Amino acid sequence: MAIKVAPSILSADYINLQSDIELIEKAGAEFVHIDVMDGMFVPAISYGPAWVKALRPVTDMVLDVHLMVEQPERYIDVFADAGSDIIGVHYEATPHIHRALQMIKNKGVKAEVVINPGTAVALIEPVLHMVDQVLVMTVNPGFGGQKFLPETLAKITRLAEIKREKGYTYDIEIDGGANDETTALAYQAGATVAVAGSYVFDKVDPAAKIARLKEVTAD
Ligand code: DX5
Ligand code: ZN
Repeated sequence: MAIKVAPSILSADYINLQSDIELIEKAGAEFVHIDVMDGMFVPAISYGPAWVKALRPVTDMVLDVHLMVEQPERYIDVFADAGSDIIGVHYEATPHIHRALQMIKNKGVKAEVVINPGTAVALIEPVLHMVDQVLVMTVNPGFGGQKFLPETLAKITRLAEIKREKGYTYDIEIDGGANDETTALAYQAGATVAVAGSYVFDKVDPAAKIARLKEVTAD
């Protein structure tokens, strides 16, 4: 099965967002990736729950919300109520990752744990039984258009190994620097979802880029 594609609207055309959404949905993207940045956990400020609420009625794609915010517990309810399908919280953003994931699940939303390039898989092993998705950051979070860090591949391999050994069913998502080459490598290592921002939106023909990611990961 080809990798699921999650275009990040961070690189989309905000003024014409609805047409970008329709375009990627028609091209076969399964998820829309929504990067929430608070100006603290990462330097940039992006957008908040109102964007999730606005997107919900215009698409059937999975709304995949990546919270790059300090103490994400403060915002779980509001993002869940806005219509998120998946909410991701960074291991590094809270001393209470287990509680944050529980809060997401209690809202009936899929729970995701996210790790930065400098964070080891071993640190999230105690919560892997309770997550629907693990996001391995393949760049340092904060900006689109960065270069894929190949040293993150070993973490994908390890997460795939744990998944097999324990019979878990979580998706393994990559985020940052995804293109046809890096996505193929991540897929071989066990990734099942690829976030792609600049690769999909920055140049011509987002639909062809989505098709290409599917093509390089078709078994
Ligand atoms: C980075 C964000 C990403 C970003 C990816 O902090 O989490 O989702 O949009 O952008 P690209 O695909 O351009 O690296
Ligand atoms: Zn992201």
